[in-house]
Amino acid sequence: MKTHYSDYIIVGSGIAGLYIALLAVEQGSVLVLTKGSIDDCNTRYAQGGIAVAMGKDDSPELHFKDTMAAGAGLCDAEAVRILAEEASDCIADLISFGVPFDTLEGEITLTMEAAHSVPRVMHAGGDATGEHIEVALSRHVRSSSITVLENCLASEILVRNGEVVGVKALDCRTGSVEDYRCRSLILATGGAGKLLRYTTNSDVVTGDGIALAFKAGAEVMDMEFLQFHPTVLRLPGVAPFLISEAVRGEGGILINADGHRFMPDYTAEAELATRDVVARSIVYEMKKTHSDRVFLDVRHLPPRLVTTRFPHIYRFCRDHGLDITKGLIPVAPAAHYLMGGVKVNNWGETIISGLFAAGETACTGVHGANRLASNSLLESIVFGKRVVRRTESGDSSGRCELSEGSCTCRLPEREPLSTAPTLNLPSLQSLMWDKVGIVRSGESLEEAAGVLATWQGCLPEPSDRLSYELDNLVLCGRLVTEAALLRKESRGAHFRTDFPESSPEWQCHMLFRKDVAR
Ligand code: SIN
Repeated sequence: MKTHYSDYIIVGSGIAGLYIALLAVEQGSVLVLTKGSIDDCNTRYAQGGIAVAMGKDDSPELHFKDTMAAGAGLCDAEAVRILAEEASDCIADLISFGVPFDTLEGEITLTMEAAHSVPRVMHAGGDATGEHIEVALSRHVRSSSITVLENCLASEILVRNGEVVGVKALDCRTGSVEDYRCRSLILATGGAGKLLRYTTNSDVVTGDGIALAFKAGAEVMDMEFLQFHPTVLRLPGVAPFLISEAVRGEGGILINADGHRFMPDYTAEAELATRDVVARSIVYEMKKTHSDRVFLDVRHLPPRLVTTRFPHIYRFCRDHGLDITKGLIPVAPAAHYLMGGVKVNNWGETIISGLFAAGETACTGVHGANRLASNSLLESIVFGKRVVRRTESGDSSGRCELSEGSCTCRLPEREPLSTAPTLNLPSLQSLMWDKVGIVRSGESLEEAAGVLATWQGCLPEPSDRLSYELDNLVLCGRLVTEAALLRKESRGAHFRTDFPESSPEWQCHMLFRKDVAR
């Protein structure tokens, strides 16, 4: 088996991975491993934008307050302060890498999104922010000395004497496995959005980084908090397509199948309430009207505003026979973002020396139980930059302390069920959607937990990309489900019919670690 050495190995090629690579290459040699092509990632699909307090009525303090409020009592205040205060410095980096944020008369334009007190969201190409970021960063990476290995799937973290020394990776085309050694290993593979039947996520988002870190002994936190985006296009035969929150920010309203505008019935914030509230309200309305969708209405907005501000959405719908300036947009919620992930400190460090996580893979604590719109791209760069600052000195021996004051568990052993559905990606996604989705109960979670444990018990040793992905998704599914079962309350994106209220005793984080004693 060949071995290779780089100072930094970054797994994943979305905004977190590429941004870190571009900063890290100033410090040492960098290898990026990505299981698909460099552009296969969730970042490319991000529409709305990136939040930063730069408007005249805004301040990092106000951004801090909005983020804390959305997080439903579980945000880490220090991490949120860092996010709000270090945002503009990292945005300046993106601009220097050539991200063409939209401007009007020379000033960056800011839009409103749900649960922000003021317009705060920068965007590019109207509603193609992520794509512009990805294109700009990958262009820079390609013209740098960074090595990118495509079709290369990280299959195991190599740890010696408690320190990361590298990673094993599978060449998805040839099936060969090689060792890649490094000083700092950074996991930036995104969340686990492919766990659910309806999702805005790219096919590559299969929980790889979270599963790798967990298997290596790192802590995984807040996995029960899975965010559903309220408005995802629901057209027969068309794959789920995001209809940005910014559409509601610009004045779009939601009506049910009977033509009634329902959000003011639920909350004074109406369509601009936090995502968890809007997604659940939509579920109730769909049930009430016996429909699998509600409708987003922008017909009252000037057509020119719609077509210039949302060119990507306008074109996609038009290409599928829908002129959104004249007709209603059928939408329903879909899985969008995982607030939980690999527990890191404010420098992106895990409890394993030399192992870092960034972007959606990481749980920095900034999102709490419910992420504020457009804070995810920002989190990727703010905490990504901190990873590189931490490793600048060449000393990666610092690491995150074991978490205190939180509940740390290991995945429970469960008796295998005598009968369980056959495991494949669609059956896993259906189970998670039906039993561990927007509205959960102890009964539905118990059922899912039993099936997932049974599946995990009979998974064969993975040998190719698909089998590794399924293995990682089943593990992430178990982490989400067991955490949701333990949390006997409702908070943020986690809602249980048997415990519909929040409880102060649950204002704590749930962590899983492989080697916790019983
Ligand atoms: C959107 O455009 O609605 C997605 C933005 C986000 O998830 O923050």
